[in-house]
Amino acid sequence: MSSAAPTTHLWLREETKPMEHRAALSPEVCKKLLEHGGFEITVESCKERIFADSEYSEVGCKIVPGDSWRQAPADAIITGLKELPENDQTPLPHTHIMFAHCYKQQGGWKDVLSRFVEGKGLLYDLEFLQDDKGRRVAAFGFYAGFTGSAVGINAWCHQQLHPGEKYPGIKPYPNEDVLIAETKEKLAKIGKMPRIMVMGALGRCGSGAVSYARKAGIPEENIVKWDMAETAKGGPFQEIMDVDIFVNCIYLSSQIPPFITQKQIDADRQLSVIVDVSCDTTNPYNPIPIYSTNTTFDNALLDIGSSNPKPLQLCSIDHLPTMLPREASNQFALDLLPTLQQLPNRATAPVWTRAEKLFHEKVASMATTN
Ligand SMILES: NC(=O)c1ccc[n+]([C@@H]2O[C@H](COP(=O)([O-])OP(=O)(O)OC[C@H]3O[C@@H](n4cnc5c(N)ncnc54)[C@H](O)[C@@H]3O)[C@@H](O)[C@H]2O)c1
Repeated sequence: MSSAAPTTHLWLREETKPMEHRAALSPEVCKKLLEHGGFEITVESCKERIFADSEYSEVGCKIVPGDSWRQAPADAIITGLKELPENDQTPLPHTHIMFAHCYKQQGGWKDVLSRFVEGKGLLYDLEFLQDDKGRRVAAFGFYAGFTGSAVGINAWCHQQLHPGEKYPGIKPYPNEDVLIAETKEKLAKIGKMPRIMVMGALGRCGSGAVSYARKAGIPEENIVKWDMAETAKGGPFQEIMDVDIFVNCIYLSSQIPPFITQKQIDADRQLSVIVDVSCDTTNPYNPIPIYSTNTTFDNALLDIGSSNPKPLQLCSIDHLPTMLPREASNQFALDLLPTLQQLPNRATAPVWTRAEKLFHEKVASMATTN
């Protein structure tokens, strides 16, 4: 970092979405930024956050009351994960880093962008912080796959231990060790190991899904790992019907033949649990075209109708990493760290200049888009 660069002031705001325990900056990452030099970090107090306020103050962050970012100094970069509260339409004079969900013309996108225009603020959208190859610098994928795999294995265990009973609601876990211990205990009671197939196993979500299966003690020969090479022949695939649990983690970028059809699930099969981590639920090319709604932590599993009496349950939760807020936040923040370290020189750092250019393009597009 150039010694002439002024201190960069990051302001971690309180998340206000119900059930959101994750944070964009973890105490570990704040510590690294403060040690790196050139940073000042203010953290809004937040009871819902998985990290206690004291974890931040212990590493040198200043703690301020929740929801106080509107009064932050003009040069503070307001950092958060989720959208700002929708009921507030005041102009935004600060620079914000967050997932604003307003670049793909989502409902209310112009209202969000207009607030930045009116306040002369700037948005760096976390979804669009990309490296030179166009790949996101930070994403929650690994822990989405990791927790998705956990739900899949736990759901299969539930089918064995409590046949016909509703799967209990899922609550966030304090850390992954608690979750892994729970799965291991269930598997030990059953006394046999399921076979699990991870589709898109080479990707972020896929490697997380494989990692959970291994940590739960499922032997390597029971973990079927497929990616592009294996699906090149085109679906549907009988191999999916022959495992107990199917975890779909692909990044769908074009039309592909379905992996699974209703005809297959009506026929004899081993498969009884599907976790669709990819959640291309409403995409016309959804490769699992046997359902059309996302599931929730309270009602995690859908019963898929079939003329085969063997149950088939499907999980399609689109915010899986919330299940392990501590590890998911820390991994996300660690992925973001090298990019954050470039903030003091953001006027020349490609990740930040691209994100700023995109913001201005999206603002300009408001005039030409209905
Ligand atoms: N449910 C959730 O909570 C949640 C959270 C984060 C991400 N996601 C979603 O998970 C999906 C995957 O994200 P990612 O970050 O892991 O992507 P990624 O690009 O890191 O990995 C995707 C993998 O899928 C493979 N793939 C693509 N098409 C395939 C095909 N036809 N057959 C076999 N393999 C194929 C790729 O080769 C790659 O290895 C995305 O749709 C993302 O939006 C869901």
